[in-house]
Amino acid sequence: MSSKTLLPLMLILGICFADDVSNKLFPDDFMFGTATAAYQVEGAWNEDGKGENIWDNYTHAHPDLVADHTNGDVACDSYHKYKEDVALLKDLGVQHYRLSISWSRVAPTGQASLVNQPGLTYYRNLLQELRDNNIEPMVTLYHWDLPQALQDQGGWLNDSIVDRFGDYARLAFDIFGDNVQYWFTFNEPKQTCLLGYEYGAMAPGIKEPGISSYKCVHNVLRAHAKAWHIYDEEFRATQNGKLGIVIDSNWFEPGSDSEEDQTAAETKRQFVFGWFANAIFNGDYPEVMKTRIAERSAKEGFSASRLPEFTDEEIAYIKGTHDFLGVNFYTSSLVNATSEPAIDTPSWDKDGGVLEYVSPDWPSSASSWLKVTPWGIRKQLNWVSQTYGSPDIVITENGVSEDGSSLNDTIRVDYYRDYLSNLRDAIDDGVKVFGYTAWSLMDNFEWMQGYSEKFGLYSVDFTDPDRPRTPKASVEYFKKIISTRCLVDTCVES
Ligand SMILES: *[C@@H]1O[C@H](CO)[C@@H](O)[C@H](O)[C@H]1NC(C)=O
Ligand SMILES: *[C@@H]1O[C@H](CO)[C@@H](O)[C@H](O)[C@H]1NC(C)=O
Ligand SMILES: *[C@@H]1O[C@H](CO)[C@@H](O)[C@H](O)[C@H]1NC(C)=O
Ligand SMILES: *[C@@H]1O[C@H](CO)[C@@H](O)[C@H](O)[C@H]1NC(C)=O
Repeated sequence: MSSKTLLPLMLILGICFADDVSNKLFPDDFMFGTATAAYQVEGAWNEDGKGENIWDNYTHAHPDLVADHTNGDVACDSYHKYKEDVALLKDLGVQHYRLSISWSRVAPTGQASLVNQPGLTYYRNLLQELRDNNIEPMVTLYHWDLPQALQDQGGWLNDSIVDRFGDYARLAFDIFGDNVQYWFTFNEPKQTCLLGYEYGAMAPGIKEPGISSYKCVHNVLRAHAKAWHIYDEEFRATQNGKLGIVIDSNWFEPGSDSEEDQTAAETKRQFVFGWFANAIFNGDYPEVMKTRIAERSAKEGFSASRLPEFTDEEIAYIKGTHDFLGVNFYTSSLVNATSEPAIDTPSWDKDGGVLEYVSPDWPSSASSWLKVTPWGIRKQLNWVSQTYGSPDIVITENGVSEDGSSLNDTIRVDYYRDYLSNLRDAIDDGVKVFGYTAWSLMDNFEWMQGYSEKFGLYSVDFTDPDRPRTPKASVEYFKKIISTRCLVDTCVES
């Protein structure tokens, strides 16, 4: 090829690449923030009266199950270093910070009548520090760390937990509500119930597939609805905040244009996202779940469906328990139709009955499950918006992992840029997405991967008792996005 033809071609390609990233400004009131969760950053696992929770118990009982045999005993030591964390947030220039309350730190046995004053003081101080720095808190009540005393009574399988959670929510609204406008009941309840009760791959490690995960979700949804009604009836008039839930899901892309694969992908979306969202928005489980699980249960010889049923009264109580919706989004999968799984031992996967896989062409990260698919966030946001009547949405988590070998985390810079570009496109599509929350402020205890997978904007030295935080290259880029509301060098008004 001659240089004469090469130059125009390069220009065209250059323009194409530049066009890949949106050059539109984010709206003035769009909120940028970062997130953490109590067990992953706080440490101080047994200090000042905190009770044991299921993650303390699980990591202490089974250190071998965590990749690097670590736990959250000290983590980032945010219990002692929260002022430093807020200073980092201030420096980033974020509008909001998403954090979670450790239930067993404020109520060591899970009973809201028995509070731990130093625990209440810790969160009061943290919330006040955020307010003083003009950072809006977004507060999750339950990010996976159930008080062990409640697990000893069956955890999410015991119906009485619904009232215990309601009492705990009321305590939190009462003590902290003056400083909180954005509440979430549950973070990723799918993981609580699938990893905790179906696969037994996370605390509390129960492996009762096809049965206990459904019971767990049933109580989680009742508990969510209870907390929403308590907020609505007892606190909304004076505190004027909003309450929602955080649902996580891959985007499920059909493996082909065939009708079978498109139906299979939609079935998967309903089994993952609809399991929660259909109940909260429409009062009940998705039809495809009710039908498939009832049919398979009957063939397996069960006298009733393994999927519990809501009463009419419960449907009326759960329907509409949302003021907005939190969506955690990281990656995508492909879905194909497949032959009906054999009738033998039950499982949620067989109930779904589709084939999920990823493309070998999708770039990897340090996490086996996380392929970089920026286009997926736009499709996910559009699907959620169209399926649930255009709710107000905030991306409550989005991020990527590396192995910590370099502070020059170009994978994260590219990831934030490309996902945010697709999110910006979704705003133009008409999706009412009002905020974006980067996971995570800093490297932290990544559950079964311990400290081996790093999701932070800031690196944390876990070998130093002082847990010093050091900015990665992504900090500069995220700061620039927040201060200019623009992903590229210069933006245009929308
Ligand atoms: C886990 O909890 C059980 C039940 O409360 C208790 O008997 C056990 O000692 C705990 N294990 C660890 C390692 O903390
Ligand atoms: C369920 O919880 C209640 C207390 O709230 C307790 O009395 C009961 O024993 C628990 N059930 C089981 C099976 O542990
Ligand atoms: C999924 O279906 C498509 C279209 O039929 C096919 O080309 C592809 O090989 C299938 N993928 C897998 C993993 O089965
Ligand atoms: C980070 O890596 C990128 C891509 O390899 C390179 O262009 C850049 O100069 C590096 N930055 C620093 C500070 O080393």
